[in-house]
Amino acid sequence: MNKNLPNSILQSGSASHITAAAEIINKGGLVAFPTETVYGLGADATNDKAVAKIFEVKQRPTFNPLIIHFSDKKKVNDIVEIDTKAIKLAKAFWPGALTMVLPRKKKCNVSLLASAGLKTLAVRVPDHPLAQSFINATGVPIAAPSANKSGEISPSAAEHVLQSLDNKIDVILDGGPCCVGIESTVIDLSARIPALLRPGSITHQELESVIGRVSLFKDETKPPNSPGMLYRHYAPSIPLRLNAEKAEPGEALLAFGQDVSARHANLSRLGDLTEAAANLFAMLRMLDQPEFIGIAVMKIPNKGLGVAINDRLKRAATN
Ligand code: TXA
Ligand code: MG
Repeated sequence: MNKNLPNSILQSGSASHITAAAEIINKGGLVAFPTETVYGLGADATNDKAVAKIFEVKQRPTFNPLIIHFSDKKKVNDIVEIDTKAIKLAKAFWPGALTMVLPRKKKCNVSLLASAGLKTLAVRVPDHPLAQSFINATGVPIAAPSANKSGEISPSAAEHVLQSLDNKIDVILDGGPCCVGIESTVIDLSARIPALLRPGSITHQELESVIGRVSLFKDETKPPNSPGMLYRHYAPSIPLRLNAEKAEPGEALLAFGQDVSARHANLSRLGDLTEAAANLFAMLRMLDQPEFIGIAVMKIPNKGLGVAINDRLKRAATN
């Protein structure tokens, strides 16, 4: 843990800490909290000023809408129109790493800023006991992007939040490292044909097995309606070189699978994509050092969770 005294208060998930964090939310403050995917930077989704603080702290363009988090699936009905596909997906994957974009209800108290003026809202029920207790204690839906500055790597541990946002938020609830380590899958159910907006640990095939055809973003001819699909969203400060076989002099190596010359970091020696996803952001962050001229990343198989990993890597490699 950080040996220097942090300005943001790092707290465990004890009952008193959860109550204190919920009070901060109810007063319009910001709390970083763990989910199974990555740490979120939470605010009361019904409080415009609190939501505005998120954009300020993240230095995020305000057109980028936020995910609204709930502790209980039933409460999602209060803010969005649920159809049969949404019900099926919720049954199959909630609580879990799936975000659904659905039409916003007319009478909905969520801040318009949270959805960046869109007629839809992105909703998710995280599968993490501390996230659920915290959200439940606040009594409100929680708007939360990943708890990092815009364009930086998403935080998969409380220390990463401290490194990125210390001084700027009130409290960080520390739930240890995130087990998935990569952001949730985002599906847009507001269109006639559901569209996968962001790949994640719940795959395209898994979604189609529950609700039938799901179009891929690349199928669409129109511009992205999820600003999260914009290029260069997740980026370390030194260049990434993808599909590398080895590191060139001066480069750090981010390996995958058996690597005889194993230097620096290996996403998964066993070639396990789940382990690789969980390690991805922490290792990119670890190798993002001025002593290196860049990071050479070995080829990651483009199947299952590998699709989401390659999506993040491609964005990080684009200048
Ligand atoms: O795993 C996650 O999803 C994490 C944890 C904290 O839940 N959150 C996260 O939030 O990654 P963020 O803000 O970094 O990414 C949200 C994504 C963005 O790509 C955003 O554009 C998209 O969801 N999104 C949000 N609302 C949307 C909407 N109404 N229509 C289309 N895309 C939307
Ligand atoms: Mg993010």
